[in-house]
Amino acid sequence: MKLRSKDILGLEYLEPDEMNLILDMASDMKKIVQSNMKRVNYLQGRSVMTLFYENSTRTRVSFELAAKYMGANAVNISVSSSSVAKGENLIDTGRTLDVMGTDIVVMRHCQPGAPHLLAKNIRASVINAGDGMHEHPTQALLDMYTIREAKGGFEGLKVAIIGDIMHSRVARSNIIGLGKMGAKVYIYAPATLMPIGIEKMGCHICSSLQEAVEGADVVMGLRIQKERLKKALIPSTEEYARFFGLDLRHLAGSKKDALVMHPGPVNRGVEMTSLLIDSDQSRITEQVTNGVAIRMALLYLLAGREEN
Ligand code: CP
Repeated sequence: MKLRSKDILGLEYLEPDEMNLILDMASDMKKIVQSNMKRVNYLQGRSVMTLFYENSTRTRVSFELAAKYMGANAVNISVSSSSVAKGENLIDTGRTLDVMGTDIVVMRHCQPGAPHLLAKNIRASVINAGDGMHEHPTQALLDMYTIREAKGGFEGLKVAIIGDIMHSRVARSNIIGLGKMGAKVYIYAPATLMPIGIEKMGCHICSSLQEAVEGADVVMGLRIQKERLKKALIPSTEEYARFFGLDLRHLAGSKKDALVMHPGPVNRGVEMTSLLIDSDQSRITEQVTNGVAIRMALLYLLAGREEN
């Protein structure tokens, strides 16, 4: 079995068998990440470019490490010092990378659909590393991997996602991906940060934090996206923390082995207290490790599509 598309643009386009393939492959890759010999030659001779028009630590570094662990030529393009700063458009930038022999472009952009536009115009595979408020498929895949690793599967699990749903590409990708795999997603946010009609994606909108976490197998917090809050949608971070911030007390209503997750970066004391972030139930650091394994699996599967 192989991935059907040359690109990873969103979980919207992946079938459950493809997601299972990626998660299974990530299990093998995680062994390499955790070994003392983080060097295999699966991508020897291949070139991977990371092109980030928005800030990132986890996603960009994990893709770069994933490529390097597998022996690829990994190049990070700094948008601020590239010809983008001279006015070069996205397609011309992509085509320039394409004719240099790039195999995979990993791109983050503030505009929804930007990776889709690039993918249509270049030969190389494109991986969406987050496009505006649309999707962040590789984050959702690493979240799904973390859940599957702990729970063994997805069927019937209750996953509560709490926070800035409106601006969250992580929430959208998780709602799509977890829904396709048989989990039930419950969401809770301030009314001003809850997009109208989001329940049509197959999730359940909760009317209280207690309803969201009650009996949950997974409690996932989301970052307040200050960079996308164009107007005052919350009175203050202090008030947000008081009514929407998660702390240890909220786990009382969830399953006793519930996982605590957050895509990061976390605003400590706003979306979650430090006690919860650093608790035994927290999988937040495990998510970061799993991010490298998932990105290795994706690079491997995309690079191997033609050979397979
Ligand atoms: N979760 C996530 O996308 O983190 P970065 O912005 O650090 O990549």
